[in-house]
Amino acid sequence: MMPISGQHKLRLGVNIDHVATIRNARGGDHPDPVRAAKIVAECGGDGITAHLREDRRHIRDEDLRRIQEATDLPLNLEMAATEEMLAIALAHKPHAACIVPEKREERTTEGGLDAAGLHNQLAPIVSQLLDADIKVSLFIAPEERQIEASLRLGAPIVELHTGEYAHAHLDGDGERIAAEMRRLSDMAALAAKNGIEPHAGHGLTYENVQPIAAIPQLAELNIGHYLIGEAVFFGLEKAVLKMRDLMDEAR
Ligand code: PXP
Repeated sequence: MMPISGQHKLRLGVNIDHVATIRNARGGDHPDPVRAAKIVAECGGDGITAHLREDRRHIRDEDLRRIQEATDLPLNLEMAATEEMLAIALAHKPHAACIVPEKREERTTEGGLDAAGLHNQLAPIVSQLLDADIKVSLFIAPEERQIEASLRLGAPIVELHTGEYAHAHLDGDGERIAAEMRRLSDMAALAAKNGIEPHAGHGLTYENVQPIAAIPQLAELNIGHYLIGEAVFFGLEKAVLKMRDLMDEAR
């Protein structure tokens, strides 16, 4: 694993789920998320993130293989902690598996994984993924007890959920923004101090990304919905390059 330091580049993982959402709206094969993955690779993205949801509302099983064949970028598979998803991850061997909480009725991943409360359910899944040489990341709220639980589970990576921070931005609530920033930077520091590589993601936009990108311990941001939305107007390459510039400027 790369050493954690502010001197290192902050990686950008692009979540291409919503290209598949648009494809699935018509049931055909256009637009193809694989084409999006190739564009991300060509314009300097550092990884492809895809969430195979239990209801297959966007990414489908065969997309994973096609994405892996089409680019050399590391694939970060977001997955629920279920036997079905574990079997799929072990079959595809993505570079990383990010375990996320999943409820069928939610529109997106609304909260962090309760790594503390679900220790017994998560422990065998984490260890089987690690045994298969898949880097395990836990998508958690920026809370001390979740970092401690991730440490007990032996997860090498945590992804800090930036959803509350993003909501505070949408509400224009300066106090909540500052409070969320403190939680995120304290928890990134705590994770790094304990040898866990911190990532962050959810709800990040051109407007709110820079304070997060400036947190020196963070090694990777995973960004999807906003980038795909901007891509509708300006193209995916421009959207990725602009996000990349903003992240670099913040470091
Ligand atoms: N990271 C994780 C673990 C996620 O579940 C998601 C949403 O699928 C993202 C990052 C990207 O969030 P957004 O689409 O809001 O940028």
